[in-house]
Amino acid sequence: MGLFLQVFTVLVITVSLQGWLPLGCLEEERIALLHLKDSLNYPNGTSLPSWIKADAHCCDWESIVCNSSTGRVTRLYLDSVRNQELGDWYLNASLFLPFQQLNTLSLWNNSIAGWVENKGGYELSRLSNLEILDLGSNSFDNSILSSMKGFSSLKLLYLDYNRLEGLIDLEEYLSSLETLYLGGNNINKLIASRGNS
Ligand SMILES: *[C@@H]1O[C@H](CO)[C@@H](O)[C@H](O)[C@H]1NC(C)=O
Ligand SMILES: *[C@@H]1O[C@H](CO)[C@@H](O)[C@H](O)[C@H]1NC(C)=O
Ligand SMILES: *[C@@H]1O[C@H](CO)[C@@H](O)[C@H](O)[C@H]1NC(C)=O
Ligand SMILES: *[C@@H]1O[C@H](CO)[C@@H](O)[C@H](O)[C@H]1NC(C)=O
Repeated sequence: MGLFLQVFTVLVITVSLQGWLPLGCLEEERIALLHLKDSLNYPNGTSLPSWIKADAHCCDWESIVCNSSTGRVTRLYLDSVRNQELGDWYLNASLFLPFQQLNTLSLWNNSIAGWVENKGGYELSRLSNLEILDLGSNSFDNSILSSMKGFSSLKLLYLDYNRLEGLIDLEEYLSSLETLYLGGNNINKLIASRGNS
């Protein structure tokens, strides 16, 4: 009986480890990643070939970092994944909401002109662990800033090489921000009451 219990315990532990660690990601996040891939590739791109439905090990997919103990996605490095020939487009920021542990999101060089329904900042600000956001080398205009109100976690924001222009008033935005990159735009005047640059 004692031996049986031991064997049984080992079996249960093995099975539960297999059900959790080797998969290394939540089903909800895996589905969200597949939706994100579809959106980035729409209508006929071919990026992120390792993100495939049949593979449950999504923490091993390219461009993704998970927390090894929680198995949740903490970083997404989606640089240059959008086929440039498809032109400027609007990204649906709600696609990122399932990633509640997300700390770093990089969308550098993807021809993004804005957020669907201009809700990007609002949606992303609901990711309370998001500290680093790289939107550099895209096609964002000044309206990106008004959509960035209410961020409480963001520390580092890259908006360099976009289409910001004229007068930029940062006063009400980005309260937690420590560093903001704005080079490569066409900005004449920057008002930043907190003294950040
Ligand atoms: C993808 O779609 C774009 C826009 O509709 C088109 O210009 C391009 O030729 C397509 N590329 C391929 C490989 O089908
Ligand atoms: C992983 O998540 C745990 C639990 O939330 C946290 O304590 C730990 O610091 C995280 N590890 C990393 C490397 O972020
Ligand atoms: C930007 O992305 C496009 C499309 O993926 C790629 O061809 C190009 O080399 C990238 N630009 C840079 C500077 O890496
Ligand atoms: C944006 O994505 C969310 C979540 O997948 C979806 O419910 C919503 O309909 C999408 N919005 C648009 C305008 O496509």
